[in-house]
Parts: sequence; structure tokens; C-alpha cells
Amino acid sequence: MIKKINHVAIALPDLAAGQKFWAESLGLSLERVSVVPDEGVTVAFLSVGDAEIELLHPLDGEGGVAKFLQKRGAGIHHICFEVEDIEQMLAELKNAGIPLINETPRLNPDGKQYAFLHPKGTGGILIELYQTSPTV
Ligand code: CO
Repeated sequence: MIKKINHVAIALPDLAAGQKFWAESLGLSLERVSVVPDEGVTVAFLSVGDAEIELLHPLDGEGGVAKFLQKRGAGIHHICFEVEDIEQMLAELKNAGIPLINETPRLNPDGKQYAFLHPKGTGGILIELYQTSPTV
């Protein structure tokens, strides 16, 4: 079951310019910046109520975000839904024939479980699932 939108991620070639717009011009509060080598990105999170904007900047010319920027330019990269039980959700989607990028959840440095659905099964939109609470 989907609980809420956790974050909307935006890919951009210039993280400093992005932060300037989102934090200074729009007035959103910058919560944290971290490097995620597994995904080849630097990420910056800004809070919007109880959801967030995630700014994604590639570490180099490789990786999914770098390829996204080369192909499509800066813009919305993915939408992340927070779910009750990520393993159950992935199993249900797989049963329904939805292609998954991650068949089993991966672990963020902060301990959150996440997985991506393949855009070819979602109308071209990359969708991330998040489970923020431990599985009970
Ligand atoms: Co994300």
C-alpha cells in the first residue's frame, strides 16, 4: 500500500545553481547533502512540508543520472512513493507483470530500503519505492 509521496527527484548538471534556486529563490530548507557512490550521485534533500525535493547530480559521466542528463537534459528524474511493506509491494507488482529495476530492496546509507520500477512499465516515469520504517 502506498502511504504518500516521499520525494520528487530532479536531475541537474549544476548542483550549486540548483541549490541556489530551490533553497534561496523558493525558500525551501536544505536538510542534507550526501554522496551515494553506488548510484554515482551527489544528492541534496530539501524539505517541503512532510515531503522532500531530491536534487541529483552525477559524480562523473557514468551512471544512470549522467545518462539521463545526456539523453533528456535537466528535469524530473523520478517520483518516490513511501510504502508500508516494500517487499510485498514489489512481489505484487512483479505478479502483475510490471518490470522492476530492483527485484529486491536496496539499502540507503541511512538504513531506508528502496527499489526502482522500470520506466518501460510505468508510462516512461521512473518510480522509486521507499520503506522508511523497519519491516515488522
Ligand atoms: Co529518490
